[in-house]
Amino acid sequence: MRPLAAHIDLDALRHNYQLACRCAPQSRSLAVIKANAYGHGAVACAQALESQVPAFGVACIEEALALREGGITKPVVLLEGFFSAEELPLVDQHRFWVAVHSAWQVEALLAFSPRQPIPVWLKVDSGMHRLGFEPEAAASVWQRLSRAPQVGALHLMSHFATADARDGRYFDQQMARLKALASTLDAPLCLANSPATLAWPAAHGDWNRPGIMLYGSDPLEIANDVTRELRPVMSLRSEIIALRELEEGEPVGYGGRWRAPRRSRIAVVAAGYGDGYDRHAVDGTPVLVNGQRCAIAGKVSMDMLTVDVTDIADAEIGSEVVLWGTARNGAVLSVDEVARYCDTISYTLLTGVLPRVPRRYQAPSV
Ligand SMILES: Cc1ncc(COP(=O)(O)O)c(C=O)c1O
Repeated sequence: MRPLAAHIDLDALRHNYQLACRCAPQSRSLAVIKANAYGHGAVACAQALESQVPAFGVACIEEALALREGGITKPVVLLEGFFSAEELPLVDQHRFWVAVHSAWQVEALLAFSPRQPIPVWLKVDSGMHRLGFEPEAAASVWQRLSRAPQVGALHLMSHFATADARDGRYFDQQMARLKALASTLDAPLCLANSPATLAWPAAHGDWNRPGIMLYGSDPLEIANDVTRELRPVMSLRSEIIALRELEEGEPVGYGGRWRAPRRSRIAVVAAGYGDGYDRHAVDGTPVLVNGQRCAIAGKVSMDMLTVDVTDIADAEIGSEVVLWGTARNGAVLSVDEVARYCDTISYTLLTGVLPRVPRRYQAPSV
């Protein structure tokens, strides 16, 4: 059997969720588990969290229905709402909550007769300029929705463009627009994603929406005492499947990008871009072999990658290789660090782990 697997630590997921709650004790935090729980497996993650969370957040009705099929009964918020009016009967049947970001959604909702009022999160564009109503338009939509029998609990929702950055000027502008609007409407708020949950208490609302931090990745530009408590949930682990000795100057892999600077020992690892490992990983990208740091040498191939293990005395065929996450000896390689070497972010690495990589779940302890 191919040794590559994504090991999912459900205790770590719960720990990180509790950390999000600790950061914002006055808020209710829904768990964002869209995109297959950022690659970790939505149903398994939802099952592990269900006793602790008040609700889940997903991108679309397909993801929400998969949760119901997996036995999840807690409220599920469609963070982009419905994509067509035909989804509304299913929204009603499964008691989903919906974001409403566009005029056509308002009209479709008000033309629909649900069996019970549908909770609505009215999305305001406070500066992200992606989805949502301008604040002035949001005020009149709010008034209409608040009088409509189709609409249950109504919240204002917005999303931050720069909550991860140290420079808070744009964040402050977004908050000022939101506060001005919310005070005229007396609206309950749902604003904070992970970086705002971790770093901007002013954004903590009636609800927060942490996502990436639940999976143990630190979204902030500069780590702080809280983010250092995050625990990796996914450990992408494989093994060495071959070893070879190279003379100084000999190349490795496609294009011969890496050349041995000295007599070197190269390990071939069963993991590649066909598994979702990023092909942009440069020479020097860290991996852990038997829990010891060493570096990628040569371009990532579809099913394999190569690592310089010249200084890892105990590297042998079958040795454990951690691409990110926790090694058996407890050493940790953060997905955030690997992402920097790939000129990307943890979100793309985690959501990019492809279906051919089996997910192995470590059950939560209680
Ligand atoms: C609307 C919305 N809320 C919350 C989140 C969670 O963000 P994060 O993963 O940065 O916590 C996302 C993620 O993209 C989102 O789109």
